[in-house]
Amino acid sequence: MKRKIAILPGDGIGPEVMNEALKVLDRIEKKYEVEFKYEHALVGGAAWDDHKNHLPKETLDICHRSDAILFGSVGGPVAEQHLERWSRVEVNSLLGLRKEFKLYANLRPAKLYPALAAASPLRADTAEKGFDILVVRELTGGIYFGEPKGRAGEGEEEYAFDTLVYARNEIRRIAHIAFKAAQTRDKRVISIDKANVLTTMVFWREVVEEVAKEYPDVTYEPMYVDNAAQQLTIRPSQFDVMLCGNMFGDILSDEAAAITGSLGMLPSASLADGSFGMYEPGGGSAPDIAGQGIANPIAQIMSAAMMLKYSFDMTEAYDDIANAVESVLNDGYRTGDIKEPGCKLVGTKEMGNLIVGKM
Ligand code: IPM
Ligand code: MG
Repeated sequence: MKRKIAILPGDGIGPEVMNEALKVLDRIEKKYEVEFKYEHALVGGAAWDDHKNHLPKETLDICHRSDAILFGSVGGPVAEQHLERWSRVEVNSLLGLRKEFKLYANLRPAKLYPALAAASPLRADTAEKGFDILVVRELTGGIYFGEPKGRAGEGEEEYAFDTLVYARNEIRRIAHIAFKAAQTRDKRVISIDKANVLTTMVFWREVVEEVAKEYPDVTYEPMYVDNAAQQLTIRPSQFDVMLCGNMFGDILSDEAAAITGSLGMLPSASLADGSFGMYEPGGGSAPDIAGQGIANPIAQIMSAAMMLKYSFDMTEAYDDIANAVESVLNDGYRTGDIKEPGCKLVGTKEMGNLIVGKM
């Protein structure tokens, strides 16, 4: 089996952690009947210098002729004079890719590894119970993309607006993704909305309820977003699959990530219909530690693992990588972001090598 992968390391720690993910993929090639062909492309600040564009056509072309995109992170560095534009540029390369490739289904697993329970900001008795949450976030609709959006007026009368809109088919397709995912897990979906205030969310709840009826083996419960935000900190284990629209999913997936205690551990998948997907770590470009060889590569490595599972149907290889990561953590190895007293502190490369060594 041959698979083409667009490699977009981006900025900050992106290139360093990407190297470790590529080492893991090399190991996968040796172990399984698969051959990867990589094409590297620039994105974000890394693309700006050469192209004066965060998402150059060359990069899009490479992505278009690939079977999947492995994405690092975007966020700098950028020259002072571009700062204002940069705030849009940074946002756009991700939003641009999501739109271009119709990546409407965003899967963000947030799992509290037992070995890392002490790193969680949750109270010890809550963290001890552990949790394994999959946030399923709608990624190409809602208030992020709704039209019209803009600014008008002047002075004190100046105003700005965005539009929250969801069509039935957009809600249905993401709901199906959530219920199907639940069938492979603990068979529980909690759908997040704000049906007590927003018309769009009344509709969201109605449509999700219809879809839920098609999955009698999965339990379904709606929950208001404000309640969900607090429930995550009080009793996170009640969540299995959290189904969210674009903006609520953005917010709650960060919260779910934070309570695992380790943003550097969390992968994500953004999927289109069919097998195409983009895979990226949740943690960002971390410019403060870039180039020092100390970043945690696990999120990038697990993003590559998700690519194997969701785009290439290589579930066994996914499990192989996930087990290797867990085993290295159980052996007490930690990068700086998850260090604790008595651990064996390692850098980016050593962490990558340890994981490969377990495979
Ligand atoms: C994320 C990020 C993006 C989002 C930004 C950078 C556009 O926060 O992937 O969660 O809001 O979707
Ligand atoms: Mg976010």
